[in-house]
Amino acid sequence: MLIPTKDILLAAQQEKKAVAAFNVYNLETVQAAVQAAEAEERPVIIALGERYLPAVDLEGFAAMAIAIARKAAIPVALHLDHAYEKKSIVQAIRCGFTSVMYDGSKYELDENIARTKEIVELAHMADVSVEAEIGSVSRGAFSDEEEGDGRLTDPADAKRFVEETGVDFLAAAIGTVHGMYTGEPKIDLELLRQIQSSVQIPLVLHGGSGTPDAIIAQTMERGICKVNVNTEVSLAAVSHLIRFTSSTEAQHTHLSTIMADMQGTILPVMKKFVRLLARQEQT
Ligand code: 13P
Repeated sequence: MLIPTKDILLAAQQEKKAVAAFNVYNLETVQAAVQAAEAEERPVIIALGERYLPAVDLEGFAAMAIAIARKAAIPVALHLDHAYEKKSIVQAIRCGFTSVMYDGSKYELDENIARTKEIVELAHMADVSVEAEIGSVSRGAFSDEEEGDGRLTDPADAKRFVEETGVDFLAAAIGTVHGMYTGEPKIDLELLRQIQSSVQIPLVLHGGSGTPDAIIAQTMERGICKVNVNTEVSLAAVSHLIRFTSSTEAQHTHLSTIMADMQGTILPVMKKFVRLLARQEQT
């Protein structure tokens, strides 16, 4: 069933669990995300990044994703990820997305507050919830996201940002990176604890890929209710396609089979995240 993102995340916050938000780009990735969540009987968030919009017909994509979500046996939400333009947010709201992320993280705090507040007012009129980011998540290997400067979130800024914007979920920059880590991950769990004490709303972890399971589990004890995953899924699909296309059978295989196999390849990766995020609170 299609459910407001806010309902899914407030329930996760109560249960001290988290929900996977998988970046999707096409039918196969949407189907795999829903199948992974159904297999684990957990909710899921399907997230389409603004950066994919030039290649994806938003209206067509939303109609397809919403139809699949409505038929699903588990709660599914539809989220616009990392939107920098008001225009894409308005389009997504019109197409039935249940939440949007406005990313004003590159601006100074005052400007980020002013811009985010405007988006929140607009989205809330349509009953759509808003995620925003302060601090900035940097980019590791194989990521398709914009480069951030790696500034960590200041807890006092987080408090002011949430109070003044009325945002529903906050992406906290605590040292995770978009993409794979090129060295040892340096995740500031104490900082996350301070951010959790400063704000009441569900917190979001960007850069799920490559983040060690034990660290993800600890972030869930410190208020993380949504974990974004993109690169690990993409890498699994691409490695599969590379392996396959270098085989002799490749040129005799129909595209529909290749796409179905690709869906089968990413399913276990998505299930791994869904299972990890369903863990009970650790101490
Ligand atoms: P990864 O690519 O590291 O999984 O991060 C995805 C993300 O945070 C999208 O918003």
